[in-house]
Amino acid sequence: MTNHKFDRHRRLRRSPVMRSFVRETKVQVNDLVYPLFVVEGEKMKKEVPSMPGVYQISLDYLDEEIDELQDLGIPSILLFGIPKEKDDVGSGAYDPNGIVQQAIRQIKQKTDDLLVIADTCLCEYTDHGHCGVIHNHDVDNDQSLPLHVQTAITQAEAGADIIAPSNMMDGFVTEIRQGLDEAGYKEIPIMSYAVKYASAFYGPFRDAADSSPQFGDRKTYQMDPANRLEALREAATDVEEGADFLIVKPALSYMDVIREVRNAHHVPVVAYNVSGEYSMVKAASQNGWIDEKEVVLEKITAMKRSGADIVITYFAKDVAKWLKEND
Ligand code: PBG
Ligand code: ZN
Repeated sequence: MTNHKFDRHRRLRRSPVMRSFVRETKVQVNDLVYPLFVVEGEKMKKEVPSMPGVYQISLDYLDEEIDELQDLGIPSILLFGIPKEKDDVGSGAYDPNGIVQQAIRQIKQKTDDLLVIADTCLCEYTDHGHCGVIHNHDVDNDQSLPLHVQTAITQAEAGADIIAPSNMMDGFVTEIRQGLDEAGYKEIPIMSYAVKYASAFYGPFRDAADSSPQFGDRKTYQMDPANRLEALREAATDVEEGADFLIVKPALSYMDVIREVRNAHHVPVVAYNVSGEYSMVKAASQNGWIDEKEVVLEKITAMKRSGADIVITYFAKDVAKWLKEND
């Protein structure tokens, strides 16, 4: 027996009901965004090899997909499009009849209860795979901006509830905000990929979205993983320019950044649990090396604990199911 006093932290861990009573962070289905890949063509439901359980679907499969998400109570989706044809200026991205614009219209005809977030970028639509137009072997910032603005406007016209620009050009929030306002979409929020690192964890996504750069890399526009203060500058700029949400991406290796962005700003913070983070867990669990459910719920809880209000994750359907089971 000790005779000095010490804190008895274990008092609050004694039973499931006590632990739940004092739990500081709770994951809810309401916090989740499910990324969805829509592809031009018919009768396509193709599993992404590096992302088991994630599919590219054509629009004839879209209604059943939406039904499934709504049955699970998932409140929002993030849409990516894969066009049949690509060109050097990414025309498919801002075609009023482009694949994402069509998908948005189809969803909006079906339901008003699902928040449709449109990813606004060119990389799925350019033949060179970069997020803007190329000039002198680099992505030209100011020439790319009008194309992103046009993409956002056509997405809003189609009925998107939120515009999510992921291109990492400078000034994109200002320009897109102004473009949307002038086109009559003052009420449509911008969820900015404000802090987006040039990350190797995007590898599987580039299979899924067919968007690998055909030369070079994205390091002249996406951020250096070594930088923290730069993340704060990026976030501050976007808030000043009118961003309604801030995304930090990827999530797992950047939890410190999520926390700092949360502390510095008072808009909703979104963590993007990216493709490589999904594939690692899938691979390990398929090998029987980890318990997928426990690991995923722990990860999503940790993202929220580090300051994220919302989590974009390919695990959204699984998490929704597990939360129901745990109820
Ligand atoms: C491209 C974009 C990327 C992701 C979403 N939009 C990454 C990239 O290729 O640079 C990553 C998503 C993921 O890895 O899950 N604008
Ligand atoms: Zn892009």
